[in-house]
Amino acid sequence: MESTKAVPKIKFEDVSLIYDDGVKSYKAISDMSFSVDEGEFVSIIGASGCGKSSTLSVLAGLRNPTAGRLMIDGVESRGTSKNRGVVFQHYSLFPWMTAEGNVSFGIRQAMPELPIEEAREAAVSYLARVGLTGFEEKYPHELSGGMQQRTAIARTIAMQPDILLLDEPFGAIDARNRVVLQDLLLEVLGQESAPKTIVLVTHDIDEAILLSDRILFMDGKSVAAEFVVPFERPRVREAIYASNEYMRLRQSLMRCFFNQASSEGAYI
Ligand SMILES: Nc1ncnc2c1ncn2[C@@H]1O[C@H](COP(=O)(O)OP(=O)(O)OP(=O)(O)O)[C@@H](O)[C@H]1O
Ligand SMILES: [Mg+2]
Repeated sequence: MESTKAVPKIKFEDVSLIYDDGVKSYKAISDMSFSVDEGEFVSIIGASGCGKSSTLSVLAGLRNPTAGRLMIDGVESRGTSKNRGVVFQHYSLFPWMTAEGNVSFGIRQAMPELPIEEAREAAVSYLARVGLTGFEEKYPHELSGGMQQRTAIARTIAMQPDILLLDEPFGAIDARNRVVLQDLLLEVLGQESAPKTIVLVTHDIDEAILLSDRILFMDGKSVAAEFVVPFERPRVREAIYASNEYMRLRQSLMRCFFNQASSEGAYI
C-alpha cells in the first residue's frame, strides 16, 4: 500500500507536442517533464503563446504527445478519460440546456446508471455549492459570464473527476467577479468529494499564488522554473497578500516574466 504513494498522480515524461496540419508543423512543447502528486494543486504560468493550453490539452488527453509519455497513476495514458475533468476559459455549456440540464447531463455522462431524478437532485445541490440556487432553470444566454463559468465548474466537479484541469477559467471574468470565483473555488475544493489533484493554467500571478501549492513557470516550450507556495490551507486572501513571503514570491515570479531569473536558485 505504501509503495503506491511514491507514484505521482500525473507525470509528464520528456513530452513534446508538434502541431502538424500536413502543410506546416510547429513544436509547441519541447522535452517537458514535471510531475504532480495526488492531492497537489499545481499552477502553470507563462507568457501568452508559451504552450500552457497545449500542455493542458495533453494532460486532458485531447492531444497525445508527439514524443514522450503522459503517465497517470504510473500508467501511460493516451486519449481522454472520465477521471479527468476540464474547465476551459470559454464557457462550454450546451446552449439548449438549462443550468440544471447542463450539470445533470455531465453527471449522467460520468454515472450513466444513475436515475435521471437523482442526477437532477445532485445537479441542484452542485449548483447550490457555486451559489446558483434559483438559477437552475435558466438557459446559458440568460446567465452572466461569471454564472455560466460557475455552472461549468459545477458540472465538472459534479462528475467527480480524480483530476481537475482548468485553463484560464476566470480569464474572461471582470476583476471583481474573478475574486469571487477564486474564493468560491477555494471553498468548493475544501469540500468532501472535490477533486484532489488540480492543474490550473493562468497568467495571473496572484491567482497562482492564492490557489496553488506549487507553480511551474513555462518558458522555452518547457518548465523553466518552479516555486513552492508556502501558505497553509484554508487560505485567507487578505492574510496572504499582507505577508512578506507573498511579496518575495510575487517578485520572483515577476522576474521570471521579465526574464531576469533571480540568483536564489529557483530556475531549474
Ligand atoms: N492547433 C494549433 N495548430 C498550430 N499551432 C498551434 C495550435 N494551437 C496552438 N498553436 C501554437 O502553439 C503555441 C502555444 O500555444 P498555446 O495555446 O499552448 O499557448 P498559451 O501559452 O496557452 O497562450 P495563451 O496564454 O495566449 O492562451 C503558439 O505559438 C500557438 O500559435
Ligand atoms: Mg492558452
